[in-house]
Amino acid sequence: LTVDWELNSAGKNGYPFYMEKEIMEQPEAIENTIKNRIVGGMPDFTADGVPDTLFTECEHICIVACGTAMHAGLVAQALVKSILHMHIEVQMASEFMYSDPVIDEKTLVIAVSQSGETIDTLEAVKYAKNRGAKCLAIINVKGSSIARESDYVLYTNAGPEIAVASTKAYTTQLAVFYLIVARMAHSRGVFDDAQTQSFVRELQRTPEVMKKVLERRRDIHVVAKKVLGAKDLFMIGRGLDYSILLEGSLKLKEVSYIHSEAYASGELKHGPIALITQDTPVVATVTQEKLMSKELSNIKEVKSRGADVVVFIKESIVGDLAKEYEIFTLPDMQDEFMVLPASVALQLLAYYVSSDKGFDVDKPRNLAKVVTVE
Ligand code: G6P
Repeated sequence: LTVDWELNSAGKNGYPFYMEKEIMEQPEAIENTIKNRIVGGMPDFTADGVPDTLFTECEHICIVACGTAMHAGLVAQALVKSILHMHIEVQMASEFMYSDPVIDEKTLVIAVSQSGETIDTLEAVKYAKNRGAKCLAIINVKGSSIARESDYVLYTNAGPEIAVASTKAYTTQLAVFYLIVARMAHSRGVFDDAQTQSFVRELQRTPEVMKKVLERRRDIHVVAKKVLGAKDLFMIGRGLDYSILLEGSLKLKEVSYIHSEAYASGELKHGPIALITQDTPVVATVTQEKLMSKELSNIKEVKSRGADVVVFIKESIVGDLAKEYEIFTLPDMQDEFMVLPASVALQLLAYYVSSDKGFDVDKPRNLAKVVTVE
């Protein structure tokens, strides 16, 4: 096993917790993940040894992962559907083998893992390879078991992630997925050169955009105080916002011990709205312009049931929402990239709730950074 991270990059660097340090490191981590994979403005995996045939010869994609890594897969799923119009499924690695997965030599299996050691994900890769599928892994730890078992690897270059709650590993996994989608769209003739370059240029804005969120982290600390006393909380959104919130909600559960559920806004009225009271704060994200009006009407519904609502909303569409709700504006990116700034904001929310409660943010009870039991 080779670990080529510098030793001092594993210190806390003056931050009280690794989680805060790792949240703050994300602009640099994204930069390190994408910079050598963009050549002449185009996504390029030549140095990683990943051939285009991997992307052109597959007929469907199956992403296998656990926890936060699986949530990165859910974002990828939405992008693949909307941009590549391909069949794609995301499977929890722990369920994969028992679900009779439809996998063959035309399947591209993408395994996602920070540690590269999660046993369920490793077993899923072995199973898929036995069925003739090609496996591409997105991994942070060089030379790890999943990296060795897979046909191809794209390392995330996030540097060591020490806090149990994953932050920079997640956003760098997303960055790799954006590059994969761009490369795949180009090699399959969905994007021409100009479209590919424009997509990549937007991804390259990420570090700067994330810095804008990080600079305003004190505002998120203020917002965090609104949910500090909650026992239960809902996070609501549609489309990509829902995918972001699944991760945001996991983050909050992990480090703050608040029972938090992410729900697709449109499903609320089919049950969970019965649980909304003045004691159940709601966090909403509104980053997808085409879904905005529907989202705002769902937000009104929960407010009218007495819930305190905090809205994370894309800056250019905020309008006069601040008059009615506690809001945090997210710097603008194209809609499909809004996941990146929104994720940073939700990580900070979870972090501040946990640290304000006086918890050991880096080592939540009952959780392990690397899970090597099934
Ligand atoms: C554990 C960690 C999570 C992580 C998951 C998958 O549950 O606490 O943060 O998302 O494992 O880990 P992996 O290393 O495969 O990404």
